[in-house]
Amino acid sequence: MNVSSPIGIFDSGVGGLSILREIRRAFASEDLLYVADSAFVPYGDKSPQFVEARSLAITKFLVDQKAKAIVVACNTATGAAIATLRAGFSMPIVGIEPAVKPAVGKTASGVVAVLATSGTLSSDKFANLLARFGGDAEILIQPCPGLVEQVETGNLHGEKARALTAKYVLPLLERGADTIILGCTHYSFLALLIREIAGPGVSIVDPNAAIAHELRRRLEDNDLLSPVPRSGTERFWTSGAPDDVKPVISQLWNADVEVRRLPKRYCRPDIPFESPR
Ligand code: DGL
Repeated sequence: MNVSSPIGIFDSGVGGLSILREIRRAFASEDLLYVADSAFVPYGDKSPQFVEARSLAITKFLVDQKAKAIVVACNTATGAAIATLRAGFSMPIVGIEPAVKPAVGKTASGVVAVLATSGTLSSDKFANLLARFGGDAEILIQPCPGLVEQVETGNLHGEKARALTAKYVLPLLERGADTIILGCTHYSFLALLIREIAGPGVSIVDPNAAIAHELRRRLEDNDLLSPVPRSGTERFWTSGAPDDVKPVISQLWNADVEVRRLPKRYCRPDIPFESPR
């Protein structure tokens, strides 16, 4: 791999496209590879070992495609796997975690809510994040079962999306939250709906742009930024059925894109599925 190699990005499904969008905005010349692990979405209710095994398999695929850097565009996979990925691969690996620090800096009421998956909220990484940056704020933790699956359907504004989102957001407002952290990349696609439900007095904190900054820093430090001004390309893969996934990726990416099937050898989970419950 070299400066003109692509950047690999993955998520359990389409949520990471919200990060891909920021990366494309920040890096016009880079070629981008995106993997949606749709056969195994959602990650949020799987065991950390399972999510780690999937993250390893997809990272291997992206490395086999000569990726010069990896972006784990998923809070749940970052919590479960980033240390293992960094130990196993030498290229820059950038992850994402709930933006507790900026949210605590922003709140006036002293009550901050975190919307995330059960996997993220029960991870050691999240416990450390709260211990380091929670300060004196009251942090309300809200897992959102079903919300990832809703985004995966591409229906972001209908009655079902609204009712489910309101079910999670309204109790947080009643408890005084004035700042809501989007701690799952899928929820970025519901930001408008959350804003409508929460009203103008509530700040919504989404760390996606910060990931592009961090990626730039890591590429610069490693002399890996593409120096040639050109139009970068995007390529998409899914471990699910491309015919089902293509319409949703095309909708969220705002273009009719080709979605390929991830080769079978990267689709088998290395360990059998284990439910944490
Ligand atoms: N979009 C992912 C995240 O940021 C994963 C959601 C899921 O698959 O449960 O956590």
